[in-house]
Amino acid sequence: MIKVDVLLGLQWGDEGKGKIVDVLTPKYDIIGRFQGGPNAGHTLEFNGIKHVLHTIPSGIFHEKSINIVGNGVVIDPVIFKKEIDALKKLGVDVKSRLLLSKRAHLILPTHRLIDAASEAAKGKEKIGSTLKGIGPTYMDKTGRNGLRVGDIVLPDFKDKYKALVEKHKQLLKYHDFKYDLSELEQAWFEGIEVLKTLQLIESEHYINQALINGQSILAEGAQGSMLDIDFGSYPFVTSSSTICAGACTGLGIAPNKIGEVLGIFKAYCTRVGSGPFPTELNDATGENIRKTGNEFGSTTGRPRRCGWLDLPALRYAITINGVTQLLMMKADVLSNFPTIRICTHYKYDGKVIDYLPYDISAEHLEPVYTEMKGWNKDLTGLTQDGQLPDELNNYIHFIEKEVNVPITVVSVGPDRTQTILRNKKPVVA
Ligand code: GDP
Ligand code: IMO
Ligand code: MG
Repeated sequence: MIKVDVLLGLQWGDEGKGKIVDVLTPKYDIIGRFQGGPNAGHTLEFNGIKHVLHTIPSGIFHEKSINIVGNGVVIDPVIFKKEIDALKKLGVDVKSRLLLSKRAHLILPTHRLIDAASEAAKGKEKIGSTLKGIGPTYMDKTGRNGLRVGDIVLPDFKDKYKALVEKHKQLLKYHDFKYDLSELEQAWFEGIEVLKTLQLIESEHYINQALINGQSILAEGAQGSMLDIDFGSYPFVTSSSTICAGACTGLGIAPNKIGEVLGIFKAYCTRVGSGPFPTELNDATGENIRKTGNEFGSTTGRPRRCGWLDLPALRYAITINGVTQLLMMKADVLSNFPTIRICTHYKYDGKVIDYLPYDISAEHLEPVYTEMKGWNKDLTGLTQDGQLPDELNNYIHFIEKEVNVPITVVSVGPDRTQTILRNKKPVVA
């Protein structure tokens, strides 16, 4: 039976999901984004073009692929229109390749304002949100107040919009937040008109019928497991289910239809925004990783915090997601380090543990490292498994042994072509 493969980030986001989805798309008929919204920034590079996608699935550049924005995604029509315009400029036939779930929720201009007001009110305790209105939109979804894509064609859409905005105005008054809505609203309604020109579908029916027809599907996650609403470093998380279960609820796929779970991680760790980060390096080494890896947010441009690979956190994410294959990204970034550290355990209130506990704040938790010899070799031109230096193979084998899942892809640069398949197991079974 054909199943849905799921590709998701195992750390704090920005693992390289966009690149890998683009690389894998030729193997699939359909790519479906299952959660998050324009807080995501998924980068693809090929033929000298670098492109960042926020809401549109990363299979969009492939002529034969169908790209579905699932019901679990939240859409800002303003950003969506910009994404479509940018793709059209590159000659991508968006209309024929892009389908939108009628059940996906809409980010209103006032959701963005509430996000900003809420962050301002938190002061030093702020989440470090991307300020795209993600939290407030998911709050309205679970609070049963939200507007959905399917609503935009209804005759009373404007009334529904106004009623929700009135509620939001009360909240903004509570926060004593100053704003000018009129300009924001104009751009928003222009975006709504663009949405109306697209194929709006009941994606759960479409996807399940596609499976019956024998079409292959890859579900594309956003953010990463450590930002998950339930299992991430709460409250410093995003507001959706970034884990494999989110692919079920965000696309309408039954759990027994999930096939391979492809977990992406960087050869080190990064995090953007606030919140605990056990292996963070606040020193020259961290700065070196940031510079070499060009670790600046794809959506906000903020510098990403950098640190060593964290195995207890990785193991936790592998367990929660049921990861069957690992994809290691940005191995090339560590090429200029004579020694590389990996966190294998934590000291938690003085006791050595090998799992991720409830509280990972620096107050309680201290990483315990193993040191390995670096590879001191430029990897960016390599194309085959057999060309990898011994020290990198040692690093890979060490991780595989520690987490008990094979690493089937090693990425050695941002371009499509800089992707090495390891012949342990095919990426698509
Ligand atoms: P995503 O959110 O998971 O799609 O990841 P982002 O696009 O936000 O961030 C990953 C960044 O690393 C992008 O700038 C990619 O172009 C880049 N990238 C992806 N894979 C590699 C790699 O193997 N090596 C290097 N040097 N850069 C990479
Ligand atoms: P991709 O899909 C990295 C982080 C924000 C903040 C927290 C909450 O590109 O990996 P939100 O705007 O969701 O309310 O912010 O989550 N965050 C991300 N960090 N990559 C992302 O997406 C992120 N999306 C949100 O920085 O700390
Ligand atoms: Mg990103």
